[in-house]
Amino acid sequence: ALPRPFTVPLPIPEVARHVRPGRYELTQRAAKMEIIPGTTTEVLGYGGTFPGPTLDLRRGSRVTVAVRNELSVPTSTHLHGGVTPPGSDGYPTDLVAPGGGAKDYDYPLEQRAATLWYHDHRMDFTAPQVWRGLAGMALVRDDEEDALPLPRGERELPLMICDRAFEEDGSFRYPSPPGGGHSGHTGHMAAVDGDYMEGVEGDVILVNGAPWPVAEVTATRYRLRLLNASNARRYRLRLAPGGRFTQIGSDSGLLAAPVAHDELPISPGERYDVVVDFSAYPVGSAVTLVNTLADGPARNVMRFVVARRAADDTAVPAVLSRPPGRVAPVTTRRFDFRRSAEGVWAINGHPYRPGVPLARPRLGTAEVWRLSSDFHHPVHVHLAHFLVLARNGRAPAAPDAGWKDTVDVRPYEVVDVLARFDGYRGRYMLHCHNLEHEDMAMMADFEVI
Ligand code: C2O
Ligand code: CU
Repeated sequence: ALPRPFTVPLPIPEVARHVRPGRYELTQRAAKMEIIPGTTTEVLGYGGTFPGPTLDLRRGSRVTVAVRNELSVPTSTHLHGGVTPPGSDGYPTDLVAPGGGAKDYDYPLEQRAATLWYHDHRMDFTAPQVWRGLAGMALVRDDEEDALPLPRGERELPLMICDRAFEEDGSFRYPSPPGGGHSGHTGHMAAVDGDYMEGVEGDVILVNGAPWPVAEVTATRYRLRLLNASNARRYRLRLAPGGRFTQIGSDSGLLAAPVAHDELPISPGERYDVVVDFSAYPVGSAVTLVNTLADGPARNVMRFVVARRAADDTAVPAVLSRPPGRVAPVTTRRFDFRRSAEGVWAINGHPYRPGVPLARPRLGTAEVWRLSSDFHHPVHVHLAHFLVLARNGRAPAAPDAGWKDTVDVRPYEVVDVLARFDGYRGRYMLHCHNLEHEDMAMMADFEVI
């Protein structure tokens, strides 16, 4: 039986420890965890845990993450939001063999402090493999951020939010077709049953791998690193009985100045870095994080219980950072995310063609990418970070603030983003981060030249 909401304590994933300075080792293995109390779930985990250990990283401190695959399936690891050389970017066919294969991923981390995450990116099988546990958070820090009086330590909570479904015996339920996959219209294997065209959702909401957890907090400010790691579910987060999120950062780092929100929409792959001030609530009160897009049990996400008063010398300064400015775009390109006439999820009419770039932006330039859609498609671009310029020709909404790497393109919307191509030349990709759409070939390569 599923637990009553807000009875399981919020776990905090352990922080990965380096084996020597600059080197981490993450072994992907199957392990049994107690997710639904009284049952066991077999997870595929980095380090044998779900979520995997949090990588706590510093800007400019290059690290190698040595991934060893002791699973029975191939994997590819992508650091989502990372400015990473192409050979370490987790290209979907750049596989680490099952049964002991290994690969060193090189992360130079020449990028601003930000909330990142890492997850599996195997061609055609990302959705089931992330669903079974192959995901973790990665925090990049820097001196600029450290100098701010933001909440830290126990008052900084990474919150990986994702939905899952479970069988009676506690195992993950994912609608894989018999035999594990079939060949779709495209010649691609599809690891999900074709009936799940809109993606797979679960009825249990997990935060850091625990169902509807509860966290005891002091009546002080907390920094919440919100990540939507769901395959397909979108959330509109709200605090009940009321309250505000003070957004300090977007996918790609700190904002110039904080932005207050009553509600935050978050689509798969997106992150929000927010501060919540629990001193606004009476001691003893419960503050529930809810998803106003859902009804029933899936409306609940987690709960905070304000346990006691405590000293708080933190603040959210009016000026947070000096993010990179806008540069003039050299060109405009269009990417249309739409189901093709043959009924497959495609970009500009093409299901994914590995090795065939749809664009060749120049290193060091910026371009306007016009993203259009027939449905909800959370569009993610590897390597590049972007500013949302317009939605349907109008000014973007408040939650679009700041540099991002993932943007929810809503049904029949046209979203203009200004993308900067900095870092490395080579082969990267853009794709829908609805993981079932991704596996159903809604991906494309681009090549930075
Ligand atoms: Cu988070 Cu290419 O993915
Ligand atoms: Cu999509």
